[in-house]
Amino acid sequence: MNNQNNSNRIRLQKYLASCGVASRRKAEELIASGQVSVNNEVITEMGYTVGAKDVIKVNGKLITKESKKYYVINKPRNIISAVTDDLNRTTVIDILPNEIKQERLFPVGRLDYDTKGILLITNDGDFMNALVGPRSGIEKEYLVRINGIVTKKELTVFEKGMTIKGKKLLPALAEIESVDRKNNSSLIRIILTEGKYHQVKEMFAAINHSVKRLTRVRFGCIEINGLKEGQIRELSPHEIKALIGLAKKDKILKKDKVENYRVY
Ligand code: URA
Repeated sequence: MNNQNNSNRIRLQKYLASCGVASRRKAEELIASGQVSVNNEVITEMGYTVGAKDVIKVNGKLITKESKKYYVINKPRNIISAVTDDLNRTTVIDILPNEIKQERLFPVGRLDYDTKGILLITNDGDFMNALVGPRSGIEKEYLVRINGIVTKKELTVFEKGMTIKGKKLLPALAEIESVDRKNNSSLIRIILTEGKYHQVKEMFAAINHSVKRLTRVRFGCIEINGLKEGQIRELSPHEIKALIGLAKKDKILKKDKVENYRVY
């Protein structure tokens, strides 16, 4: 049994997961099967804790702490927001510059194959979980080109929180940006605080308008402005902190509050 009183020590499986070796559960399996050593001693005990000076190896290979990376990309259409794809389609990781590809990144949540816009990318699982969990409440803002001319009245159902396929949605704000009578289409700006599968498309389908094009223009305080399609940039420490702060807030979506969530 090692010293567990020091508050700077963390459990071995958590340390391995934070280094990107494996998920916490898989790290426990590695420990239990005797594949992990600390200071050249094989450890199979689950409560074992490690500190900064310990030398940790998995199957003899030295494990070092992976530095955390945080990016935002303007995802183009026809790209999968996943690390790999069963159908061999191009993923958002495939289109990253080579030096960034090595960092074992994954997307924070998903955008549909045919949706473009803001997508965060990281190698920090805790950051991802804080931002995509059902209770994160982070605002996602979309520009939606739909078929047909929509009226303000039709959009009021979004504000009340509609029920789709038996699932109650949180209230969403929506406003008409423009209507194109010649081409029989409308451009809508919509803000959601959750991210259910195909949510925007299903909301519009429920009011009898199909989505032609969907672009996410904002995720929390991160806006698309200045980022060309396919372009990626690192988030600043200030932006990372602001996003985590937003995720922690218990928010109710109100028109006069929306601006407060932007950080400059
Ligand atoms: N809603 C959708 O329908 N698709 C997306 O990609 C994002 C939100």
